[in-house]
Amino acid sequence: MNGRMQYLYNAWYAAAWANEIGAALFARTLLDIPIVLFREGGTVVAMHDRCPHRFAPLSRGALVAGQIRCGYHGLSFDARGTCMRNLFSGTAPKAAKVRTFPTHEQDKIVWIWMGDRPPVGVERIPRLEFHSDEALGCVFGYTHARAHYLVLSDNLMDLTHTALLHPGFGGLDYIPAYKCWVEHDEIISQYIVDRMPSFIEPGQNKFLHNEDKIRWIAPGTHYLESRVTPEGEAQGTLLIPSAHILSPETSSTTHYFWSSAPFPGSGSSDAEARAAFVQAFDHEDKPMVEAVQQRMGTADLWDSNPVLLATDAGAVRVRRRLSELIEAERSHRSEMAAPAGR
Ligand code: FES
Ligand SMILES: [Fe+2]
Repeated sequence: MNGRMQYLYNAWYAAAWANEIGAALFARTLLDIPIVLFREGGTVVAMHDRCPHRFAPLSRGALVAGQIRCGYHGLSFDARGTCMRNLFSGTAPKAAKVRTFPTHEQDKIVWIWMGDRPPVGVERIPRLEFHSDEALGCVFGYTHARAHYLVLSDNLMDLTHTALLHPGFGGLDYIPAYKCWVEHDEIISQYIVDRMPSFIEPGQNKFLHNEDKIRWIAPGTHYLESRVTPEGEAQGTLLIPSAHILSPETSSTTHYFWSSAPFPGSGSSDAEARAAFVQAFDHEDKPMVEAVQQRMGTADLWDSNPVLLATDAGAVRVRRRLSELIEAERSHRSEMAAPAGR
């Protein structure tokens, strides 16, 4: 595809962590569309954050008796986006309607359907049940990155960057054998380091076997399972699940939702585990990814003619698959728009 890839609209995206949305109005732009989110009777409502009168952000208004009252001239809208009241005349103008977006709350995430077609079933949303496993003590984070979401996806689908970016997760000892394959429309990159010095117990002359398997599920979920087997230890293999979910904010910025079970050695408390991940994702991945985006400017990856390595296979497959899905959506749209009897 030439030029910058457009978005896939008819898909479920992560809009927010469930605990970000409460009684207050919460604004977040997704796919260049400003959205306002709030809870009404427990369910999350998502609306275009733009009043149909003079286009004030509705998120600057207030929730009054379950309705958003625009903070500019006081039109009020219910959870379906229907105008219910005009503060001054009392009569709600019929033409005043705000677009709403289907949402579904699952695994501590608010998912949103951004397309104009009816949403596909929520069973198509990737399950991340480990988020709710309280015994696991999962930590959750949000990172805003000034990079295209596929540049972040490239980073996730090519974990060989661990060697140079993540000294805390193996650093230069992380020289894996790499494999990539497709399973039911999901793309998997696998990395196996047969034997490396232990990054769980560094400096103690201990070794471990490490396997990382990252699975891309369209449009933005990357589910990573790390399996660490310390050599000669009775505890066997430790399984560490994590998720890296990308939702485009604009064509040059991304919402990055991440979660992980505590990594062995990342610390015993929640705060220590969080600090280890913040270090990796915010202070190691993000600056590199943003710097890459700066060098690329607004050019599309393929137009920039990158040198490809064998370890790019996963990232390239993700880009190709997404490109196909976007193309299919676009041709469906133009078929729908074509005059009848053509
Ligand atoms: S802009 Fe919202 S009521 Fe005027
Ligand atoms: Fe990384």
